[in-house]
Amino acid sequence: MVFTEKQEALVKESWEILKEISQKIACVSSPQIAPAAKGMFSFLRDSDGIPQNNPKLKAHAVKVFKMTCESAIQLREKGKVTVADTTLKYLGSVHLKNGVLDPHFEVVKEALLRAIKEAVGEKWRDMNCAWVEAYDQLAAAIKAEMKEEA
Ligand code: HEM
Repeated sequence: MVFTEKQEALVKESWEILKEISQKIACVSSPQIAPAAKGMFSFLRDSDGIPQNNPKLKAHAVKVFKMTCESAIQLREKGKVTVADTTLKYLGSVHLKNGVLDPHFEVVKEALLRAIKEAVGEKWRDMNCAWVEAYDQLAAAIKAEMKEEA
């Protein structure tokens, strides 16, 4: 299932939810990922514990969310997600270099979807599949690029 025009409008309108959800999708606060993520994000290495309110983590969460939104829109327009070559190369190498592994993408996905669900409330019912598909295709592209570069 892909976004309909109405759903796409909802996505575009939902930028205010960013503020609300960016904290929640700051992926490293998740217990499963915390120990590994702490080592991965260079700016966390010297800190004690996992900061719940780190601006750089929020910034990453916002990037993941934005790219997933863009992917959802591409899905509707073109039927598939395409990431520009240079962007994909960059994303592949940044994540490879930082030791990100396949299972981490699942954890981030759960956190992202949970946060969106809480933020959009009722509308979630109509949009669920489109978000999942958009994130899965985006993550698959990054993971494939990471394997290519490894
Ligand atoms: C960096 C997006 C999944 C960990 C980045 C950057 C982007 C990005 C755009 C570059 C930031 C910059 O240079 O300004 C995404 C997207 C994801 C994803 C779209 C999923 C579809 C993940 C996952 C992890 C992760 C699963 C593991 C927890 C990192 C780390 C960096 C990074 C450690 C480097 C941050 C730094 O040290 O400055 N990501 N990411 N990302 N990402 Fe992701």
